[in-house]
Amino acid sequence: MDDLYREIIIEHYKNPGYRGMLDPHDISFEDENPLCGDHIRIDLRLDKDGKVSEAAFSGHGCAISQASADLLLESVIGKTLDEIKTIGRQDVLDNLGIEQLGPVRMKCALLSLKVLKAGAYGFGEASDQLVEEKKKGEAIDTTAYKYYEIAGVDEIPNGERIFLEIGSNQIVVFNLAGNFFAIGDVCTHDDGPLGDGELDGYEVICPRHGARFDVRNGKATALPAIIDTPSYPVRVSNGKIKIGIPE
Ligand code: FES
Repeated sequence: MDDLYREIIIEHYKNPGYRGMLDPHDISFEDENPLCGDHIRIDLRLDKDGKVSEAAFSGHGCAISQASADLLLESVIGKTLDEIKTIGRQDVLDNLGIEQLGPVRMKCALLSLKVLKAGAYGFGEASDQLVEEKKKGEAIDTTAYKYYEIAGVDEIPNGERIFLEIGSNQIVVFNLAGNFFAIGDVCTHDDGPLGDGELDGYEVICPRHGARFDVRNGKATALPAIIDTPSYPVRVSNGKIKIGIPE
């Protein structure tokens, strides 16, 4: 490694531009290198086009793992999740100005890439859902919600639903083809329970008098209900489902 790149690594290690945490964030993932104990968490925020607008990392480790994380996050600002998925090991080495490393150091250098890509892939369909919501102008004001972890993704199989109560909110959460949706478990026609109703596409049909609601946004789509039922933002991260409740 020549002196110039050694200096770049030390500079990014000592004075990182992207160290910190983002709260709220659209994506968060963390992992560690069991060989040396280095640990990195990466938080990302996406804009309405699904591009990374802000990024931050936290954790601890050697100069290479920390500098690598800082350089990597510098490079992902403005990128989409699909573009992030194409970043490879050579890009990380190019950032660091290193041609080759021993296997242990290589894991240190690549830890942040592993975390970043796991976040990009792990967010999967939920991120598409969020981007679509943002594009439609129905963006979730994430600052107005407090998120509660309610289940692992494998606890609500495709086509299934669960019921829960958070504070005064009666909620039903659906898994439709791998996308999770949460709406109020209450029919606004006569305050009857709604979540047990049959599904017809994206609509749930109230078992009492047949009103319909779109599970994607809580909209009342058929009489006798004319008022929407609440809709709650859903996030999926690290295999866990979180529901946003208005603060
Ligand atoms: S209570 Fe649901 S349609 Fe009447």
